[in-house]
Amino acid sequence: MSTTPDLAARAAATSGSDMWHTTPIPGELRRISLADGPHGLRKQPEDSDHLGIGTSLPATCFPPAVGLGASWNPELVHQVGAALGAEASSLGVDVLLGPGMNIKRSPLCGRNFEYVSEDPHVTARIAAALVTGIQSTGVGACVKHFAVNNQETDRMRVSADVDERTLREIYLAAFEQVIRETNPSMVMCSYNRINGVYASQHPWLLTELLRGEWGFEGPVVSDWGAVADRVAALAAGLDLEMPPSGTDDRIVSAVRNGDLPESVVDTAVGRLKHLQDRVSSDSSRNVDHAGHDALARAVARECAVLLKNENDVLPLDPTSSLAVIGEFARTPRFQGGGSSHVVPTTVHAAVDVLDGSCSGPVTFAPGFRLDGQPDAALVEEAVQVAANHDIAVLFLGLPDAAESEGYDREDIELPEVQRDLLIQVRGVCDRVVVVLSNGGVVSVSDWEDNASAVLEGWLLGQAGGAALADLLTGVVSPSGRLTETIPLRLADHPSYLSFPGEHGHSLYGEGLYVGYRYFDTVQRPVAYPFGHGLTYTSFSYSDLELTTENDTTWTVSCTVTNTGGRAAAEVPQLYVGVQESHPTRPSHELRGFAKVFLEPGESTRVQFPLTGRDLSTWDRTHQRWSLAAGTYTVTVGASSRDPRLSTTLVTAGDRFVAPLGAHSTISEWRAHPIGGPVLAEQMRFMRGADGISEEMVQMAGGMPLSALCSFNMGVTTEMLDQLVAGVEEQRQQAIARGEITG
Ligand code: GLC
Repeated sequence: MSTTPDLAARAAATSGSDMWHTTPIPGELRRISLADGPHGLRKQPEDSDHLGIGTSLPATCFPPAVGLGASWNPELVHQVGAALGAEASSLGVDVLLGPGMNIKRSPLCGRNFEYVSEDPHVTARIAAALVTGIQSTGVGACVKHFAVNNQETDRMRVSADVDERTLREIYLAAFEQVIRETNPSMVMCSYNRINGVYASQHPWLLTELLRGEWGFEGPVVSDWGAVADRVAALAAGLDLEMPPSGTDDRIVSAVRNGDLPESVVDTAVGRLKHLQDRVSSDSSRNVDHAGHDALARAVARECAVLLKNENDVLPLDPTSSLAVIGEFARTPRFQGGGSSHVVPTTVHAAVDVLDGSCSGPVTFAPGFRLDGQPDAALVEEAVQVAANHDIAVLFLGLPDAAESEGYDREDIELPEVQRDLLIQVRGVCDRVVVVLSNGGVVSVSDWEDNASAVLEGWLLGQAGGAALADLLTGVVSPSGRLTETIPLRLADHPSYLSFPGEHGHSLYGEGLYVGYRYFDTVQRPVAYPFGHGLTYTSFSYSDLELTTENDTTWTVSCTVTNTGGRAAAEVPQLYVGVQESHPTRPSHELRGFAKVFLEPGESTRVQFPLTGRDLSTWDRTHQRWSLAAGTYTVTVGASSRDPRLSTTLVTAGDRFVAPLGAHSTISEWRAHPIGGPVLAEQMRFMRGADGISEEMVQMAGGMPLSALCSFNMGVTTEMLDQLVAGVEEQRQQAIARGEITG
């Protein structure tokens, strides 16, 4: 009697039992509970939907990834993960569907509030912290959306057409780092196609790369409704379809017909068993919701980014009379729309906290309607209030409907009624502070001159209003830094002409040059650069040191000092690059950062590890990471455009010497450390070779060596075969001697 569950039961296990649960196999596999989302638990009581339309049980709403990313504080984000895991566990959820870690290719993406950055390094550091935090509670994390899901337009069909090097260095890099370093319980594949193949049935993505190269052993779950072909998906490495499509019989038939090896079904069931052994929930667990709310406030304080602060108008003088203008001060905008939407345990409004913490008079006026419709009475009221107070603080931003899962934005402007309000308030009050609430970047160019200070609050979760008040009044100094460039105009963006694509294709024509990698390489002016953020003190950097253990690992260190009068945090950032006339790679790339909290006059030493992989590029010809010999710039700065200390690093590289063949060009032969001298020697015997000028050799450089057989120079294919064999033998010998790698 076979002990293996019958095929139908195993096939059923590769699809959910309902919107939020896997299908058990009696005695083999228990029912596993899944739930959103990345910044707060969305556990639905009964009727379910995956777009956040239906309600869910109250849970702590932490800052979405756009905020968490701007904190540049992995240790703090780990605490958020642990709190999320605790709340999930207490409600019987085994796997939390987050973090979202797609790269912000365009500021128009409607779901950018759920993602960390335009840069894979900071994305990986923050996402890894969430995974380790969530998984410290026994609940599993599920990194998403794998992969290249950078727009909402046509998201269930569009093909992200992207070259392999850009894939590896930009869109897959954070997933690779997080999966290798934190071993998340699950990976969620994305809806879209990648170069024409659905992520849900992409053998290279889900098996060769994810398992073969990165060693991931857990199950891959589909995004909800992302499976186009059950059999092809299972065969490609997608283990769990969610929610169920009622097509288990297709799996059984495919196995019976010999179209699908039964071992594929067993492998998927095995991975689900691996998952059930790793994850657990504990409904008896008590949750300190008040403590989580306090944590949400402490985290939100570190997420806001002070973009400008002229004449030190911030922190506010608590004795000043304060006009608090803008509906967002009373009705905070603190999260985005869609599947990540959380029912918060409470919500803090900035105006309430300001009212309680300022000794001077505080007067509120809504100033505008959340639906964006003009309202002259509201404007008039707000202008009157502003005219009678020392300082006007305007809480502006994007309304809920402006950005969400499921659709992208058309522009990056603030609503016109808000910009008009700001101009009118500035007309009657000369000290104006703007506080922004927005998930995607907004342009500041055409209005920021009306404000002495601009505090970018992003979306900060349920306690964001209180955190903003704490920052405005100087309870703490701002310490957020931009993880996305704020361009002067949308049209300056490298993806402007190709996003979101058409006819089912989105061409990633900007390649590697995403965000600051583009703006800094072409030195295009921006409103505020990647990594930027002010605070209520100043910092100095000194004593840069570069040490090396060998030729592929280094340590960069420097001293950071608080040279001002207030305690605050600094985020020294490490960038590496090469100086080259024509770019073959971005001018510099973020490869490390630290967040240090310093009292006035206090100094600390920061260290950044640097590896050969950090300097490498993806060599698609030889399918490997390539560390080229040469001189690299190593810079520590306060943003991607505020270098403070710099040095150079020289490395012999990975000493990789590629094999040569008759298909290799004459230039490749001449540049080759082994093939070059051999070819030069052989050319001496070729008919008329002495008559070949250097110019002619240069012109012929792009020809494959095999072409020499066609120009009556006495060169035969047998001669070439011998030449190639001789060089390859020498290469293998050099590899054996350890002189080169191959
Ligand atoms: C949604 C989202 C995904 C979410 C899932 C379940 O469509 O794309 O992030 O986890 O479905 O709600």
